[in-house]
Amino acid sequence: MIDDIKQTLKKGLEAYYNEKYGISLNLTIEEPKKASMGDISVPMFLVVKELKKPMPEVVSEAVEVIKGLSPFIKEVNPTGPFINIIVDKGVVAEAVLKNVYDKKDSYGDSNVGNGHTIVLDYSSPNIAKSFSIGHLRSTMIGNSLKLIFQKAGYKTVGIDYLGDWGTQFGKMIVAYEMWGDDEAIKRDPINELSKLYVRFNTEAEDKPEMDEQAREAFRKIELGDPKYVALWKWIREESLKESQQIYDLLGVTFDSYNGEAYYNDKMDPVVEELEEKGLLKEDQGAQIVELGDDLPPALIKRSDGGSLYITRDLAAVFDRMKCYNFDKCLYVVGNEQKLHFTQLKTVLKKMGYDYGDRIEHINFGLYLTGGTKMSTRKGNVVKLYDVLMDAIAQARKQIEEKNPNIENKDDIARKVGIGAIVFNDLKNHRTNDIEFNLESMLKFEGQTGPYLQYTGVRIFSIVDGQELDLDNICKDRFNEPHYFELIKLISAFKTTVERATVEFAPSVVAKYLLSLAQSFNGFYAKEKINAEDKAVRNTNMILAGAVRVVINEGLRLLGMDYVNKM
Ligand code: ARG
Repeated sequence: MIDDIKQTLKKGLEAYYNEKYGISLNLTIEEPKKASMGDISVPMFLVVKELKKPMPEVVSEAVEVIKGLSPFIKEVNPTGPFINIIVDKGVVAEAVLKNVYDKKDSYGDSNVGNGHTIVLDYSSPNIAKSFSIGHLRSTMIGNSLKLIFQKAGYKTVGIDYLGDWGTQFGKMIVAYEMWGDDEAIKRDPINELSKLYVRFNTEAEDKPEMDEQAREAFRKIELGDPKYVALWKWIREESLKESQQIYDLLGVTFDSYNGEAYYNDKMDPVVEELEEKGLLKEDQGAQIVELGDDLPPALIKRSDGGSLYITRDLAAVFDRMKCYNFDKCLYVVGNEQKLHFTQLKTVLKKMGYDYGDRIEHINFGLYLTGGTKMSTRKGNVVKLYDVLMDAIAQARKQIEEKNPNIENKDDIARKVGIGAIVFNDLKNHRTNDIEFNLESMLKFEGQTGPYLQYTGVRIFSIVDGQELDLDNICKDRFNEPHYFELIKLISAFKTTVERATVEFAPSVVAKYLLSLAQSFNGFYAKEKINAEDKAVRNTNMILAGAVRVVINEGLRLLGMDYVNKM
């Protein structure tokens, strides 16, 4: 709301100066450092400079204009070169609260994205390997960005670009042929397959010829050898089940699962186009595109004719452009693929396409345990699904201790346990490395998912079933800072969502929710919500209920669930 008023003042003043003096200004409207000076402050230096008139004259003219711009303004106080404005806090609060109850879950919806499409490529596991912790990050960040972009009015397309093609399938098949036990695999496919993969990697460390065998096996799949293709299909199906288990726990969905295999027969036109445009060069039997002095060349085709990651990504980009005509295509992939995406953009540019600029590598850092990288590569780490289940079990234990008679324990434990992991990830800016420590992320206090959920539960327990009268809000209460601080935060929800889209950062929403919850808990410590006075009680409950609407909707944007009890 304060943001809306600022916007109204900016637009109104700019229009005034344009009409009257024919000048177009870009004014900055601020909030004074000290709340005692007012809620909004308009510096007049720029206007003085442009109009070449004395400050006092400019200021008094602007004061008159400002008074007529917004019904929410109570006082306009010129102080030297600044015009400080005090808003009518009661009127503002009433408008904000009515808006929340009117819109409910759609409170905070924005239309900045209307008419625009965002494609998000996220999760994208390499499915003969086990689902890694890095893919978990990609899944959570991508899912949240998708929900945030939707809230901001964008059309979104979520793509799980499965790594279902590549030498890892060759490795799997070689391992299967050497050590595979059909019975064991049928009993527990995911586990057995990942054991085979781990064993291959361990043994290949001192037998490099095994890698060669794996490449050959994969070549056979590429060439369509029926036996190998059948094995590939089977491994793909079984591995997908593992990802699906994780998606089900997280509640994550996709609009498309077109992965690398899907593009296998769609690369020829890309290679031909590169050829026609004179970009392809031969280099020791391989086909490459040179990318200048600062970048290594992009390898388009291997010397044995095998295709490559970047070639498939080129085919995928063209296909996505054709199908979705995207404004942005976001690739939520770890820091280590920075070079790959720079190369992809550069090749597009060399091909003469301007939409390389619409491609955005949404990079992120590592998970650490005790300060070192967490890895699933050699199987030295517990399986991800087990980690998630462990979080749920620990959450269940906590809930049982705190609230033994609660119903639906399993459902609540899932929401709290998963929420803890998701929030721990998203509260940090995605480019940072983060520590994976279940115990601390499950705490009900501090900067955790359970803390936010618990704040919502606390409010629910007070306001559930109460009759609220929105036409009887005590406006004068909002002159108290702890009341008005909450109004300001609630009213900043929409701009927060918009900022998260600009920065491609769910952490913007996560941090905002923490401030809102902290501010509410401060309020709660000071103020008896269920006050004796009926009108005050009504006002407090309306305010608390509005906080909960925003917390719940904010949690949803992060890919978390709210609970009513915990
Ligand atoms: N499967 C890849 C990996 O795990 C990530 C794919 C990212 N998306 C893409 N279009 N390249 O490393």
